[in-house]
Amino acid sequence: MMGGRRDGLMRSSSNSNSILSLRTSRIAIAIAIGILMGCIFAFFYPYGFLHPYYPPSTAAATISNSISQESSSECESSERINILKADIVRMTEKNAELRKQVRELNEKLRLAEQGTDTAQKQFLALGEQPKAGPFGTVKSLRTNPTVVPDESINPRLAKILGEVAVRKELVVVLANVNVKEMLEVQVSTVKKAGILNYLVVALDDEIESYCKANGVAAYKRDPDDGVDEIGRSGGNHAVSGLKFRILREFLQLGYSILLSDVDIIYLKNPFDHLYRDSDVESMTDGHNNATAYGYNDVFDEPAMGWARYAHTMRIWVYNSGFFYIRPTIPSIELLDRVADRLSKEKAWDQAVFNEVLFYPSHPGYEGLHASRRTMDFYTFMNSKVLFKTVRKDPNLKKLKPVIIHINYHPDKLPRMRAVVDYYFNGKQDALDSFPDGSQ
Ligand SMILES: *[C@@H]1O[C@H](CO)[C@@H](O)[C@H](O)[C@H]1NC(C)=O
Repeated sequence: MMGGRRDGLMRSSSNSNSILSLRTSRIAIAIAIGILMGCIFAFFYPYGFLHPYYPPSTAAATISNSISQESSSECESSERINILKADIVRMTEKNAELRKQVRELNEKLRLAEQGTDTAQKQFLALGEQPKAGPFGTVKSLRTNPTVVPDESINPRLAKILGEVAVRKELVVVLANVNVKEMLEVQVSTVKKAGILNYLVVALDDEIESYCKANGVAAYKRDPDDGVDEIGRSGGNHAVSGLKFRILREFLQLGYSILLSDVDIIYLKNPFDHLYRDSDVESMTDGHNNATAYGYNDVFDEPAMGWARYAHTMRIWVYNSGFFYIRPTIPSIELLDRVADRLSKEKAWDQAVFNEVLFYPSHPGYEGLHASRRTMDFYTFMNSKVLFKTVRKDPNLKKLKPVIIHINYHPDKLPRMRAVVDYYFNGKQDALDSFPDGSQ
């Protein structure tokens, strides 16, 4: 019903636009002819139609190039003919020039209309044309509409998601046998935290059977899936893009996904702590208010004297190992762009994820316009915050975060177990033996 109406609106808008462009191009041609006629008359009748010095018949005869010898002197008339011939050449050239300009104007008009057409279509898709309210009351859109679910793209996955998801949301974690021990620790905390909507994308048989044996919902990809083929036959770059390719199907099916790495401990149910107002809501690699939420970083160049200080904006990257993504067009475009870039260049997926999310449009590049929210860095905590700050602060130490991501430390498994001991098993000194960073 909604889709049909939208289609109708788009059709009628493009119809009226083509009528408009037909009309405007006719007007443009009429104007061009008018200007041309004006030039011709201004040249041949500089003093107006009724001036005796240039009888209209003479001018007409000159144009048709059948010159009658009615002037008083031969010499004088042939001189005048030459001048007129030169003028005709000049006028013809001017005519061609004018026609070219009209063509160019028409092209510009067409392009401009194309631009407004797209904007108009997008606007029509969103609803009524808004009226700005009084000062301080306007609020732009950050919660984009979700896509219409398309089960036909993967009926098997659609069925699994229908069973696992709660309110069309779920945690999704990709795992292969190399990370099985970490997955086991994670699964134990997921159960303790009472999270029911948790799904493992099993990348091999061992993980699939582990999940089956432990009552964990699992989804094993079709071995003859085109995406997997890319993953197998492609090099490392192609494989690193696989996560984003897989995730796309979940969004297309209409689900909001909390994507999770395996090196994450769940202390509470994260779905009780989301805002759900943005396309992407992500944990940060930042460690305080400034680095997590953005700050003005002043770059100093003393040689510039008066203008030595250049202000820059900085923010620590979003962690592409833990983010909540809503099923919207900007979200899917984000995943596609990241996957596409990772398949073509050797790059770190987290860096690409952030560049696509944050870089603005500029010459030769059209930026993504996805809305973003940075998660609270004490609630969705990275391991630098835990080991450098929280465990040493008597007050912060008492608070229970929602998750802890051991992203900053290579000795993931022992630190994960220590976190479980500290927060679930009441072992007050469980975190003490670890250095702040890796050694
Ligand atoms: C960080 O920001 C929070 C609110 O966003 C504020 O309550 C807190 O005082 C800030 N901390 C510091 C150290 O500025």
